[in-house]
Amino acid sequence: MTTPAKPTAAARADVPNDLEAFWLPFTPNRAFKKRPRLIARAKDMHYYTPEGREILDATAGLWCCNAGHSRKPIVEAIQRQAAELDFSPTFGFAHPPAFQLASRIADLAPADLDHVFFCNSGSEACDSALKIALAYHNVRGQGSRTRLVGRERAYHGVGFGGISVGGIVNNRKFFGSLLSGVDHLPATYNREHQAFTKGEPEWGGHLADALEGIVGLHDASTIAAVIVEPMAGSTGVLPAPKGYLERLRAICDKHGILLIFDEVITGFGRLGHAFAAERYGVVPDMITFAKGVTSGTVPMGGVVVRKGVYDAFMKGPEHAIELFHGYTYSGHPLACAAGLAALDVYRDEKLFERAKALEPRWCDAIMTLKGLPNVLDIRCVGLTGAIDLAPIAGSPGLRGWNATGHAFHEEGIMLRLAGDTIELTPPLVVSEAQIDEIMEKTAAAIRAAA
Ligand SMILES: Cc1ncc(COP(=O)(O)O)c(C=O)c1O
Repeated sequence: MTTPAKPTAAARADVPNDLEAFWLPFTPNRAFKKRPRLIARAKDMHYYTPEGREILDATAGLWCCNAGHSRKPIVEAIQRQAAELDFSPTFGFAHPPAFQLASRIADLAPADLDHVFFCNSGSEACDSALKIALAYHNVRGQGSRTRLVGRERAYHGVGFGGISVGGIVNNRKFFGSLLSGVDHLPATYNREHQAFTKGEPEWGGHLADALEGIVGLHDASTIAAVIVEPMAGSTGVLPAPKGYLERLRAICDKHGILLIFDEVITGFGRLGHAFAAERYGVVPDMITFAKGVTSGTVPMGGVVVRKGVYDAFMKGPEHAIELFHGYTYSGHPLACAAGLAALDVYRDEKLFERAKALEPRWCDAIMTLKGLPNVLDIRCVGLTGAIDLAPIAGSPGLRGWNATGHAFHEEGIMLRLAGDTIELTPPLVVSEAQIDEIMEKTAAAIRAAA
């Protein structure tokens, strides 16, 4: 590779809005830089471009900003915390907001999920949960339980653990052999049986029984954990079919396998409850969370674990570290302050209840898009929905890219894209009039991409 002369740092910094240096994640960089979709500020339900154009946020950022944007109580809590305590380690030391936030999250979690391990993202949360599962069996003398089971079409972030149990081909195929000893359950989506379903599909609960097949193949004594999203968000809003999660729980119980719910998206109100586990009445052994915990304001993730899991580690000499895992920024003071303030807003404004109450209205509204050109299926659950568009022959993803570009530049709305699927996941403060506006603008974008 030849090395062309590089402009000096001073020359580069002198160019206002030079788009070159930033390599955007999960983005077609060249297409983006030809026609950038730039955001300069945000308030409540809206983003604003650098020129001041208003953009309706139909995505809660990236399924994060459940309380809406730049909310005063959260902003002020972060400012106060930065002035009070900028950073303190949580290895061997700790600070009050970390304990307070852990207690608040444990209170929101179901049953005896009452201990919280902090990290900084959903990816770290998933890898942490998988490591806790492996270590849990180890400390109980069942070190042969090393297999992990994920699911096709799952997204568990981008760490090596997460992509190994995840089920998105492009997130896996470029990155080598991944973790060994991973199996996958089949995806729960089937258009033939489920198209245009509101909420949880009737068909598909039996797909959980594939876990018995995996147990039969490898023996339960080799399997540590199963990880699933109660609603698979990143591959296009795939709610668990009726009875599916209950069946998974029963099979895990039968064989001593830990069940992990990845609630990075579904946590903090998205499905009308603090956690989707509550909606489905199923108690997992661990719940991963991120995003909504701080309403997207400061990076934070974590794992809530059941008492029995935590207690299994609390053996041996008291001066000895029980779990050799953690991040410099686990329980960062700014994230904890943001989390506490976000939870206050959720509670005071009853936003989880609001999401639940709006769900029928939301689902009716999104289903009005049925019949538009190229719409193959529409799904919705909680305050979340997805519209599958027919791909342009030979150019998968292009119709979706065009639709979301038209939406941003011409309609003034931010839509999330997964392949040719448009995902709608507004902040939980969305008004009924804004629900209608979202559907009108989305319809216009779908028509423009026909
Ligand atoms: C279910 C799930 N798990 C994990 C992640 C990864 O989170 P992050 O991007 O914060 O690492 C995501 C992100 O969308 C997610 O939806």
